[in-house]
This record gives sequence, structure tokens and C-alpha cells, in this order.
Amino acid sequence: MPIRVCFVCLGNICRSPTADGVMVRLVADSGLADQVDVDSAGTSAFHVGEPADHRSAAVARGRGYALTSRSRPFVSADWNRFEYVLAMDRSNLRNLRRLPGAHGFTGTLALFRDFDPESPAESDTPDPYYGGADGFDEVLDICERGCRGLLEQIRSEHGL
Ligand code: 4NP
Repeated sequence: MPIRVCFVCLGNICRSPTADGVMVRLVADSGLADQVDVDSAGTSAFHVGEPADHRSAAVARGRGYALTSRSRPFVSADWNRFEYVLAMDRSNLRNLRRLPGAHGFTGTLALFRDFDPESPAESDTPDPYYGGADGFDEVLDICERGCRGLLEQIRSEHGL
């Protein structure tokens, strides 16, 4: 059984699809594609069915990442499907903790940026949706660092 990882933001069109695309490539480049599955979801259903925001997709494409997600809400059945659930900011972490099934979750529910050694503890991945182009680049920088740290932790916890 592969280890399953889900990134969660609000709309599932900017931050979590970016982390998803970065993690998919990092896992593949590490030869672990059969052992680690990656997905993303939102705590809202505002954008259900939509692909990643075109600004996120363009910035990611510029660094060689394909963002292939379709927005979907995180649902209580997801607690049984994933071993690592990573919230892109504290607000979404709070929302996840309030969802039915959260209390029985036995995997790792954590703030994504806590895997980035360069970020102070409890940092949010800033929501780029209403801002300028720089915000999308910053999200990608954060995702590259955080995904490296997350994969290291997964490897050490699972002896990979
Ligand atoms: P995301 O960004 O949570 O990173 O996907 C957002 C996308 C859409 C909205 C907010 C944040 N929105 O309010 O529609």
C-alpha cells in the first residue's frame, strides 16, 4: 500500500495544487512514485471541478511542474484514505480539526510550513488569490522547501 499524502487549502485551486504538483515531481525524481501517492483538497467547495488557477499553473510550468488537480472538498472519508494531511495555513488547519472524523485520525495532521526548516514555527502559506504575481512565486518557493522537508520526514518514518 502506498503512503498517501493530501495537501489542503481553502479553494484547492492555488496553494494545495501547487504543493501537490511539486510533491509529485519530487517523489518521482526520488524513485518513490510507487510508494507515495499525492492528492490535494479544499476546506471549501467554492471552486469544485476547477483546474488550478491559471496564475499558479503558469508559475509552476515555468519551473517545470504540471498542476493536474481538479478542485474538490476534503470530506470525512478522507481521514481514512490519507496518512499525512497537511494544511496550507492555520485557518485551514482549524477547519480540518473541526470536520467530522478528525478526532479519530491516527495519521499526521500538521501545518505544511512546519516542514520548511527556513520558516518560523506556525507560519502560513500566504493566500495568493487576491494579490499580485509575486504571491504565486512565493507560494512555489514555500512549496519547494516544504515538500523537501516533508519527503525527508516520510522517508525517515517509513525507512524509504
Ligand atoms: P487557495 O486560494 O485556497 O490557495 O486555493 C484561494 C482560492 C479561491 C479563494 C480563496 C483562496 N476564493 O475565495 O474564491
